[in-house]
Amino acid sequence: MGARQAATKAIIASATAVLRTADRYITGSSTGASPEELQQNPYAAFAKMRERGRVLRSYMNRGWYVLGFEEAQTAFREPRLSSDLSTNPFLVRTLRAIANGARVPTLDDPTLITMDPPDHTRLRKLAARGFIQRHIQALEPKIQHLVDECLGRIDGDSVDIVEALAKPLPAIVIAEMLGLPAQDRDQFQAWSNELLNLTQLGNPAAMERAVDANVQLLEYLATVVEEKRRSPGQDLISQFILAEEEGDKLSAAEIYSTCSLLLIAGHETTTRLISNGLHALLTHPDQFDKLREDPSLIPNAIEEMLRYDPPVQWMPRTITEDFEFFGKQFRKNQLVIVAIAAANRDPAIYDDPDTFDVARSEPKHVAFGHGIHLCLGMTLARLEAKVAFETLLARYPQMSLVDQKPAWQVNNFVRGLESLPIHLNGGAPAQLQVVPSQTEPAGALG
Ligand code: HEM
Repeated sequence: MGARQAATKAIIASATAVLRTADRYITGSSTGASPEELQQNPYAAFAKMRERGRVLRSYMNRGWYVLGFEEAQTAFREPRLSSDLSTNPFLVRTLRAIANGARVPTLDDPTLITMDPPDHTRLRKLAARGFIQRHIQALEPKIQHLVDECLGRIDGDSVDIVEALAKPLPAIVIAEMLGLPAQDRDQFQAWSNELLNLTQLGNPAAMERAVDANVQLLEYLATVVEEKRRSPGQDLISQFILAEEEGDKLSAAEIYSTCSLLLIAGHETTTRLISNGLHALLTHPDQFDKLREDPSLIPNAIEEMLRYDPPVQWMPRTITEDFEFFGKQFRKNQLVIVAIAAANRDPAIYDDPDTFDVARSEPKHVAFGHGIHLCLGMTLARLEAKVAFETLLARYPQMSLVDQKPAWQVNNFVRGLESLPIHLNGGAPAQLQVVPSQTEPAGALG
């Protein structure tokens, strides 16, 4: 190994160690929980931290955890807490070391999610045109068709529902919305799967693959955008090209980065909503029974899934100037972790916050954030989850877990199961009656 390579490896190793420690302390913070316990149940550690302070100094003294519901909503609305992490020297150094010379999407390709006003306001207005509620709702027949197709490929009684449904569904839906040619879908899904590794803090090899996939994806999108400029369709990319607000337009780079953001923000999160939500249901048989008896509760159950086990556990912000926040002195350049997972179980807001209750009345939560960065894709995510759960419950009313303790990913930023093997028919001999739809319903955008 050359000296340069060795030095690079050492930098990556030390950056990884820093991130691992940071990662551990985000939920562990001297609560005494082992990494395995944290993976299984980060909520107990968050609760202990919240008891010590609803806005708590981080272990490494580099910043703060915001752990209460009201405090989290306030933080998400606070303009002195910036989403542009490229202004935070500690984070920039660490991310650069990990990327090892490659582009770091969060730093080099700014997107809505990493922008502050006024750039954010401008881009969000333009991008939001592709997410008009009625366009999304009109996608339901298409999504139903895709769910049927995914389940139709299952052969036998037991299946890993993450691989069979939760992973492919959101990737294909986004590909459809963007209007990508059908022959490119497999490649697109492969890139999309690699991009899931962008959140694998502490696994540099996986993050490197994600960075490579991002580069290839951006190159690919550039050719698609050129094609759509020549002959626009009804899809999202064509809408982005045509989107105009008071004489303003999205630049080519903004179109590419918005498309790749939709994948990064919309794929893994929806995958985790479906699989974490199903896990919650199958580990609470009384709640599963309730839902089976009354499927009209499904939309409410999805809100409870988002509250109880949110895919995005926390979002970072960086402090742009000194100010007081709920009695604490925030200092410029400190990092703030807004702990969605803790806020969603704040006992000041919820009765029995640790109870999973599909009939909970109006389970509000901050799983989609709050304020100016409120998730742009939440209607789509809710719709995909609704169709997935309606179909799973109707087809497999006896489904059950194969393994009572499936493995959770190490990553605690986007929380999810590595896999979720289930018996479709409760472990009984296979009686699959899967009839894939014969006709392709027209999508609203395609
Ligand atoms: C269950 C699924 C999802 C969850 C839990 C989720 C969560 C979030 C959260 C917490 C934020 C706020 C980030 C912040 O405040 O910094 C966000 C923003 C965003 N999400 Fe989602 N998301 C989901 C699905 C989707 C989907 C399906 C799409 C699009 C296809 C999407 C696109 C976006 C975009 C573009 C933003 C940035 C909005 C902005 O910065 O103005 N998300 N999401």
